[in-house]
Amino acid sequence: MSDGMKVVVVGAGYVGLTTGSVLADFGHSVTCVESNQEKLRLLSSGSVPIHEPGLDELVKKNVEEGRLSFSGSLSAALADCDVAMIAVGTPSLPDGSADLSSVWSVVDQIASSATRELLVVMKSTVPVGTTDEVARRLNAAVSQDQGLTGGVATPGMGQGTAPRFHVASCPEFLREGKALIDLVHPDRIVVGCDSNRAAQLLRQLFAPIDAPVLIVDRRSAEMIKYASNAFLATKISFINEVATLCELLGADVHAVAQGMGLDSRIGQKFLQAGVGYGGSCFPKDTRALLHMAKQAGYDFRIVRSTIEVNERLPLRVIEKLEGFLGSLSGRRIALLGLAFKPETDDVREAPAIFVSRHLLERGASVVGYDPVASGTFHAEVPRVEIAANAHQALQDADALVLMTEWDEFRSLDLEEARRLMKTPIIVDGRNLFDPSAARKAGFRYTGFGRGADRDKEGR
Ligand code: UDX
Ligand code: UDX
Repeated sequence: MSDGMKVVVVGAGYVGLTTGSVLADFGHSVTCVESNQEKLRLLSSGSVPIHEPGLDELVKKNVEEGRLSFSGSLSAALADCDVAMIAVGTPSLPDGSADLSSVWSVVDQIASSATRELLVVMKSTVPVGTTDEVARRLNAAVSQDQGLTGGVATPGMGQGTAPRFHVASCPEFLREGKALIDLVHPDRIVVGCDSNRAAQLLRQLFAPIDAPVLIVDRRSAEMIKYASNAFLATKISFINEVATLCELLGADVHAVAQGMGLDSRIGQKFLQAGVGYGGSCFPKDTRALLHMAKQAGYDFRIVRSTIEVNERLPLRVIEKLEGFLGSLSGRRIALLGLAFKPETDDVREAPAIFVSRHLLERGASVVGYDPVASGTFHAEVPRVEIAANAHQALQDADALVLMTEWDEFRSLDLEEARRLMKTPIIVDGRNLFDPSAARKAGFRYTGFGRGADRDKEGR
C-alpha cells in the first residue's frame, strides 16, 4: 500500500470509475464525482452502471473498506484533496474536433473550489495543448484571487490562501473489457508535466504499479495518446485493406496476418481483419487528430485514409448480403453480437449500429442478440428487435451476420443454426467461424479476406 493520498476523480465513466477504484485499492482515499444523477444513484446504492470484468467486486470491496465514495458535488469533494483527476467525456463534435465543454466546466469549478496545493491530472483524451491551457486558466484564477496584475502569479507564494496548482497530462491506455488489467499492469505510465513536484506526486499516486514511467512535456504526452490510438487504428485499417485484396486475389488474410505477425517489428496483435473498429476512442481520437492537423495546416493523409477505410466496412456487410440474397427488402437478418467488441456493454460507434441502419434503410427487418449489450444497443437503434439468445435470433432468419466475437458464439452449433434459419447464409464480420466447418454444415459462407468469395456465385 502506498502512503494514501486524497484523490477526486471527476467523471465516473468507463475510465473514471475503473481508475478511481484501482487507486482506492492502492490505498488512496478516492471520491468519484459524477454529474449524471441516475449514475450517481446507482453507484451510491452499490450498483456499477457499466459492464467491466472485475469492476463490481473492486468497487464493492473499496466502498466497504471506506476508501471509495461517490458524490455529486465537486466543490465539496475538492476540500483538502491532494489530486483532482479529470476523466469526463470528450466526444467528437460534428467537425471531428473534441468537445471540451465538460473539461472547461470542471476546470472552472476546480479554480473556484481549490483551497490549497493541488495536483490536477488530465486523464481524458484532449487535443495537444489543452493541458497547458488548463494550467494557464488555473494560474490566471489564482493571480485574480491575489489581485495580482501583469505577469503570471507564483501560486501559493502570495499573501492569501490561494492554492498552488500543479497540472499534468496522464493519458489512459485502457482497453474496455481489460481496463483493470491495463490499469494495474500497464505497458507504461506517461506523465506530461513541467515541474518535479508534479512528477513526484504522480509517482506517489501510482507507486504500486511496476511499469516504466515516462516523464515528458504536456504536449508530447497528449500527442503520445493520439498517435498511439491512431497507429493502432491504422494497423487495423491496413489489415482490413489487405483482407479486401485477399478476397480479390484468393489469399487468406488469417494466414497472411499470422505470417506478418511473426515479424517482431510487426507483432501479432491488432491484425484481426473484419468489420472494423468502433468504440469511444479510435473513431473519436482519429477524427480529433485529423482535425488538429488540419487546424495546424497539415493534411494527415494516413489517418484520413484509416478513417475512410474503416467507415466503408459496414457497407461491405451489405454488399456481401446482397451478393447472396439480391434485394434485402423484406429479408430478416440476424446480428450476433452488438457491442463494439467482446467483454463490454459499450455500443458507442459499434459497427452493428451502422450495419443495422443500412439494413433498415433497405427494407430488411433486423433482429439482434448480445450477451451483455442488448439493452444499450436497443436504446441506440430501437427498430432492431432484440432476441433473448442466439437461437431465438436465428429463428427464420435469412442470414447470420457475426458482428462481435463473443466466446459463446465460437461454440454455436452450426447444424442447429442451419435448421433454425430460413436461408443458410453466414456473413462473418469477425472471421470467427471456420469457413470449411460452416460450408460442411450447409452454409454459404463469407468472411473478411478468407479467400475468394466463392459462395457468392452460389457455386
Ligand atoms: C472519457 C473520455 O471520453 C475519453 O476521451 C478519455 O479517454 C477518458 O475519459 P469515458 O470514461 O469512456 O472516456 O467517458 P464516459 O463513459 O462518457 O464517462 C464520462 C463520465 O463523466 C460520464 O459518466 C459523465 O456523466 C461524467 N461527467 C461528464 C461528469 O461527471 N461531469 C461533467 O461535467 C461531464
Ligand atoms: C482502445 C485502445 O486499445 C486503448 O489503448 C485506448 O486507451 C482506448 O482505445 P478499446 O477501444 O477499448 O481500446 O478497444 P480495442 O481492444 O483497442 O478495440 C478497438 C476496436 O478495434 C474494437 O471495435 C475492435 O473490435 C477493433 N479491433 C481490434 C479490430 O477490428 N481488429 C483488431 O485486431 C483489434
